[in-house]
Amino acid sequence: MANQATLKYNDQSYELPVVVGTENELALDISTLRDKSGFITLDSGYKNTGATKSAITFLDGELGVLRYRGYPIDQLAEKSTFTEVIYLLLYGSLPTSTELSAFEAKLAANVEVPAQLAKMLDAFPADAHPMAVISSLTTSLSAYYGAEGDFSKEGVDKVAIQLLAKLPTLSSWALRGLAGKQLNVANPSLDYTSNLLSLFFAEDSNYKPDPTIVQALNTLLILHADHEQNCSASTVRMVGSSRANLFASVSAGISALWGPLHGGANQEVIEMLEAIKADGGDTMKYINKAKDKNDGFRLMGFGHRVYKNFDPRARIIKAACDNILSKLGVSDPVLKIAKELEEAALNDPYFVERKLYPNVDFYSGIIYRALGIPVNMFTVMFALGRLPGWISQWKEMIEGKEPIGRPRQVYVGALERDYVAIGDR
Ligand code: CMC
Repeated sequence: MANQATLKYNDQSYELPVVVGTENELALDISTLRDKSGFITLDSGYKNTGATKSAITFLDGELGVLRYRGYPIDQLAEKSTFTEVIYLLLYGSLPTSTELSAFEAKLAANVEVPAQLAKMLDAFPADAHPMAVISSLTTSLSAYYGAEGDFSKEGVDKVAIQLLAKLPTLSSWALRGLAGKQLNVANPSLDYTSNLLSLFFAEDSNYKPDPTIVQALNTLLILHADHEQNCSASTVRMVGSSRANLFASVSAGISALWGPLHGGANQEVIEMLEAIKADGGDTMKYINKAKDKNDGFRLMGFGHRVYKNFDPRARIIKAACDNILSKLGVSDPVLKIAKELEEAALNDPYFVERKLYPNVDFYSGIIYRALGIPVNMFTVMFALGRLPGWISQWKEMIEGKEPIGRPRQVYVGALERDYVAIGDR
């Protein structure tokens, strides 16, 4: 395979090194292109831009493949635990049982959150969106644990553990604090997922999380744990590239995730399904709305920038959805509407031609709701799952001493003109 590509423009040729990934992905290294030729590249939305080399997650959008550190997502979802996957993403290999126990002990030792931070909740109206609350609380942690940023191996590890250990509590504050309920304290004797459920739902010391719910949540957290250079992970890396501390970088990632085209879609899906139900359940009406270019409506939970055949996470979640609802004895009428929508879309040329399939957000909300999680907390659940991915991406960027992220542009604005005094305009 040639290791150079040639770009020709007029009578000039420019050699561009070819970079080959471990899965034979091909890239042109254009890092010196501007110096050599004066050209920059233009790629709105970074649809075809590799921002980094990464060893964390591999994704093949055509084949519907997703692997964390080489391990297929379906194997991890079936056999692993969330803390094991956190370890895998952060450190690159599956832990031995001794390593896992030591890691879980470190998390357990750091669950406590500064009590003063809870005063911030008083500043939020009761109807504040929980994503606003957790992004504010996350960046506020830097006031206590390393605003200046210690980028040594130990310093990075320390803040990673702090954030992983504390975000469950901060998330539960968003749920309980805004609802005027008493805040729960983390229980370090519980596993990560059971502790999360206890923080959310315990009304007294007798609370015991249902094993079916623990298992379902464990799977969902694993499925969301990383997804290579998506909008929020790229945001975390971009903010971190200025050497902003981890808490500030992840807070920015939480904000990026909140948008309805990204993680916010899980809330939008349930709201859409509820709206269709309230409107008489006419799914074809909404399929037609989604196809109508004069209508701003999109089928939420459908389509993906990278997956063009199927989203492997969506397949696992759809199967889990039936299983969990039946185990919990929950019958949710919107599940029927979701299945009808999917069926109609998968047989409609508009969706087929554009390769639009259900994504991770299409069925996850139905499960979250069956687990008792309020709709406006769905994207927080996504953030809790994605946290190890964000931290691993930030860590990789710091360890690789990547330069500050600073894209260029093609300027299309006014040419130079003289200032005109206000009275003369
Ligand atoms: N409903 C109707 N049409 C759609 C949809 C949809 N959900 N998604 C894409 N299209 C159409 C779009 O109008 C365009 O049509 P045309 O070529 O005629 O102009 C074509 O498909 C390509 O869409 P695009 O917006 O250029 O594709 P993109 O790669 O920029 O966007 C996306 C990907 C996920 C933002 C988009 O599919 C979307 O808005 N989906 C709904 C929101 C959603 O479910 N987001 C969650 C994504 S997965 C989890 C995550 O990343 O957080």
